[in-house]
Amino acid sequence: MEALHPDVKDILLGEDEIRDIVARMGAEISQDYADKNPLVVAVLRGAVVFMADLMRAIDCPIGIDFMAVSSYGDGAKSSGVVRIVKDLDTKIEGRDILIVEDILDSGLTLSYLIDLLKGRGPASVEVAAFLVKDVPGNTPAVAPRYVGAHVPDEFIVGYGLDFAERYRNLPYIGILKPEVYK
Ligand code: XMP
Ligand code: MG
Repeated sequence: MEALHPDVKDILLGEDEIRDIVARMGAEISQDYADKNPLVVAVLRGAVVFMADLMRAIDCPIGIDFMAVSSYGDGAKSSGVVRIVKDLDTKIEGRDILIVEDILDSGLTLSYLIDLLKGRGPASVEVAAFLVKDVPGNTPAVAPRYVGAHVPDEFIVGYGLDFAERYRNLPYIGILKPEVYK
């Protein structure tokens, strides 16, 4: 059992659970892309930890690349404004694209990204989201093909996810205590 960080209220997914989830997602992706050579695109910075684990759980040929977008700043609420901070280095025309995202909340970030990438003529664009945040009365703008786990409408940190660039290095997924960000 991991030691609980004093700013973390609860652990939602421990290291063993995360390993099982990633293995299951990797197996699904390996099966679906068995005869393809997808470009797996991680969205920086939150998705790097998930990406590093997921790519090693995929056993078909893949390429990898990274994009950086900015939508949250250092706060806890989505601004709805997406800015491309770093674009792909790879040409994606005719290529199968799998976007790897840490957490899907409103889906605004991803739906912008998907439209942008589709404009470049890829063969397909799918999404693997490690987490989907369940917000009552809210339907995300994007339906990911692969989902790791659903989490409640709270601020989630660890396993790549930050608050103001902190907590990314926690090895588990936890709920941040509200007094830390309020
Ligand atoms: P949208 O609303 O566009 O937001 O789907 C997705 C992006 O917002 C960030 N995000 C979070 N980051 N804890 C975080 O560390 C959270 O609880 C959280 N909710 C949303 C995340 O960067 C994601 O890409
Ligand atoms: Mg973030």
